[in-house]
Amino acid sequence: MASAMKTPLGRNWVTGFSGEDVMSNKMWGGRFETGPAAIMEEINASIGFDRRLWRQDIDGSKAHVTMLARQGIVTEADAAAIAKGLDQVAGEIEAGSFTFSRALEDIHMNVESRLREIVGEAAGRLHTARSRNDQIATDFRLWVRDTVDELDGQIVALQKVLAARALEHAATVMPGFTHLQSAQPTTFGHHLLAYVEMLARDRGRLADARKRMNECPLGAAALCGTSFPIDRHMTAAALGFDRPTANSLDSVSDRDFAMETLAAAAIIAVHLSRLAEEIVLWCTPQFGFVRLSDAFSTGSSIMPQKRNPDAAELVRGKAGRIIGALNAVLVLMKGLPLSYAKDMQEDKEPAFDALPNLSLCLAAMAGMIGDLTVDAKQMKAAAGSGYATATDLADWLVRTLKMPFRDAHHVTGRIVGLASAKRVGLERLTLEEMQAVEPRIDDSIFAVLGVAKSVRSRTSYGGTAPDNVRRQAKRWLRQLARTSV
Ligand code: ARG
Repeated sequence: MASAMKTPLGRNWVTGFSGEDVMSNKMWGGRFETGPAAIMEEINASIGFDRRLWRQDIDGSKAHVTMLARQGIVTEADAAAIAKGLDQVAGEIEAGSFTFSRALEDIHMNVESRLREIVGEAAGRLHTARSRNDQIATDFRLWVRDTVDELDGQIVALQKVLAARALEHAATVMPGFTHLQSAQPTTFGHHLLAYVEMLARDRGRLADARKRMNECPLGAAALCGTSFPIDRHMTAAALGFDRPTANSLDSVSDRDFAMETLAAAAIIAVHLSRLAEEIVLWCTPQFGFVRLSDAFSTGSSIMPQKRNPDAAELVRGKAGRIIGALNAVLVLMKGLPLSYAKDMQEDKEPAFDALPNLSLCLAAMAGMIGDLTVDAKQMKAAAGSGYATATDLADWLVRTLKMPFRDAHHVTGRIVGLASAKRVGLERLTLEEMQAVEPRIDDSIFAVLGVAKSVRSRTSYGGTAPDNVRRQAKRWLRQLARTSV
């Protein structure tokens, strides 16, 4: 009997499992009872994380055995006993009374081993015409598919919050930035609706990935299919798939569904991270545009004045691990010859880490946006600074004096230079000062220099005018109310 193996760092390799003899390896038998067997078990076992797939694994097994009986491959009596036994296993796992064993490697062997204890020899017939290779491909697809559906619902929930706040702030003027420099006045509602659009594309990417992933690999067996007269259409339908996968090698080799979902997740995380970064900026005293509720702020243990936007920072930070998960799976897959290789066991932890974290980010973002308060006065004051209405002035020159835009741009630049030298806003220059640059300017120019007027004038389709924002926000709210998720 080997003793527990210590790492060079002194950590005990054997971690995380209670109530079992970690040294006895039921899979490998006497030959591997020595120290290295413990290492082998440690590196080989996936039960520490794939136990998460227990429900999908049991659903898959029930669909499989029902089909085996229908096809006359196992008796109805055996199938019924197996199905009943699987329900009992599910009950035990749900109740927390199931003992997971690392010696049994993975969720498939853990479930099957317990099934044998419950129903006896008949349990051994369950694995007819299948392999753990098609089993894991099926289980993981089912989990990713369920997760995609949950994420989709959460995205809709976030879009609803954003659209509702956008409607409320359709006319709340704020500075619009390019290069993070004041560019043109916009509205807070318009800004929030930009994220609603981004999230709509995110939903499209998830839906697209879901469509492609919804094919059932079960019955591909190890890699070449089986000589038993199985009905793959039947198991596919029972598990809610659109159809069985068409090539058995592809079925057990393919992890596109994980890569596509993580790619979509990474883009969603990037979107949330940008919004999080804006929230972090907006709630600094220097910007002072918004205030997060107490429920979404934290204090400092040393600086009593602080209200920190930790949730926003964590949403921004978690984008790193979500993008990392995509990278991990892409790099994992890139050198693998067909079909299954054990490397592919490494596909699950990135997904199990990234997707629940993304779910957390979506929930946190909905919470933050839902109850943040807006300082409309501060936003409006900031909207007028930095010569944000310079484009309006140039447009006035084009419209009123029929100046070519390039010339108007030049004239406006000189007027801005003048105001900047005097350290005043454009509206604080006198008519004479402006006429010194362009004599044909008259005092109707002042009407376009205010920020409210500026946003009202941007009525082009998709523009920032409050009427347009209101219309778009209402359209989204109507559409989202109709969305069933
Ligand atoms: N735990 C394995 C995985 O996640 C299941 C498939 C094992 N297949 C095998 N031939 N060893 O990939």
